[in-house]
Amino acid sequence: MKYSFKIIISFFIVLYVAVTVLFFNFYKDLAIKDTKQEATSILYTINSIRSYIDEVQRPVLYDLAKSKLDEKEFFDPRLFSSSYITQYIYDKQFANKHIKYEYKLVSTNPTNPIHKANKFEANILKQFKDKQIDEYFSIIEDKDNTYFYIALPTSRNKKSCLRCHGNPKDAPKRMVEIYGDKSGYNEKVGDLRAMITLKIPVTSILSYHKDEFITGGIAMFVVFVVFVLLIYAIYRKDIKIREKRDKLFAHQNRLAVMGGMIGNISHQWKQPLTQLSYIVMNLELKYEKNRLTKEILNQKVNEANEQISYMSQTINDFKEFFSPYKKHESCYIGDIVYQSVRLLGAPLEKNKIEVIVKIEDNFIFKGCKNELVQVFLNIMNNAKDCFISNNIECKRVIKIKTFRQGDKKIVAISNNAGNIEEEIKEKIFEPYFSTKDSSVASGLGLYMCRVIVENYNGQISVKNITDGVVFQVVLNNN
Ligand code: HEC
Repeated sequence: MKYSFKIIISFFIVLYVAVTVLFFNFYKDLAIKDTKQEATSILYTINSIRSYIDEVQRPVLYDLAKSKLDEKEFFDPRLFSSSYITQYIYDKQFANKHIKYEYKLVSTNPTNPIHKANKFEANILKQFKDKQIDEYFSIIEDKDNTYFYIALPTSRNKKSCLRCHGNPKDAPKRMVEIYGDKSGYNEKVGDLRAMITLKIPVTSILSYHKDEFITGGIAMFVVFVVFVLLIYAIYRKDIKIREKRDKLFAHQNRLAVMGGMIGNISHQWKQPLTQLSYIVMNLELKYEKNRLTKEILNQKVNEANEQISYMSQTINDFKEFFSPYKKHESCYIGDIVYQSVRLLGAPLEKNKIEVIVKIEDNFIFKGCKNELVQVFLNIMNNAKDCFISNNIECKRVIKIKTFRQGDKKIVAISNNAGNIEEEIKEKIFEPYFSTKDSSVASGLGLYMCRVIVENYNGQISVKNITDGVVFQVVLNNN
């Protein structure tokens, strides 16, 4: 759960990047589409002008020429040449365009040498001629720019075209004078003479669509930020609720553990108190019988002091554990284990449970000692309850072992109170999970252990062994 926020955020970043890339591509596609549309429309314009000249203007002019001028002599590109006129028209149109096109009319057999196709263009034109393709699009790069390159064929030769593009002998004299009789002739009806090409710098398209792109980008970024904030808010709330719940649970668990132990104090004091009263009675007797020597007095006082110090040790343990202050300190793990065992001494003894402690490595625990005591108490309490509920007849043993494994400091607490079912193994560390009669305390014990241990960056786990289970507390923090 700790890392889920990071995971969600990274997921969203990936998503955001993906969407941005998609978005960018979408715009690029849109731009390409626009360009194609533009190119087609230019071609239409050009072709319409061509047909106009071919079907309307030229016949009129021929009529004119026939009546007044010599048809063979009369030629003026401003009236007769459609490419001359279209280039002129295009130049006019071009000045008003947002996107800077480089327009070219190319032919492998040009009348005007400026229309001569280069190798690259000739290759495309050939594909058009052979009808392999009917439009050409590619992205080309030169040293300082990337271009969209679009080529579309012009209309094919008609019979009327051959007057000027067929046999040079048929062409107007004036035309031959201007363009010569070498190139632009000997065409056939139905052949393709030329294609138009558009070369558009990508940057020019993108900058033309800049506004949409920026607006879209900002909108998406805003949506993204709002999303992240929303998730963060939900996450914070979740954490707050969790923290609150854990605090409450810890409190409940502590109360439950304490409640169970108040009884222990009196139980733990019973024996030394009885001992003390024996000692006192003994002294009284000896005194009455006049047999109270200095040695006996000293010995009895020592015995009494021993009992009193045991009692004071017990009360100290409880006092320390009940102390509400979270004191951070460095403690030997051995001390913490023994204190836990002492605190639970009475109920363990009452249920004939033997505790075997093996401090293989007396490492130092840095933190709140009481919290770790609470963990051990909960685990031992749990074992005690299992011994009782499972009615274990053989010798009841809880073994506590502290050792090191590499960097890890481990406390293993095992018992022989029977196995735990595999499917509930993970669940026992969840709040309010209990296999026992549902009392708040029993449902929280192991959950609190997990919360406490994980707060110290540690882990707690449970494993089945031959005739019981072993709880392993791994402490990594210190
Ligand atoms: C009256 C003569 C005449 C007729 C008819 C004519 N053209 Fe042309 N055409 C020319 C001249 C002159 C040029 C060169 C104009 C220039 O300087 O750009 C030319 C140029 C072209 C070009 C540009 C490539 C090049 O050769 O420089 C194409 C393409 C073309 N003509 C196609 C046609 C087609 C298709 C027809 C028939 C629909 C046709 N022409 C009819 C005179 C003619």
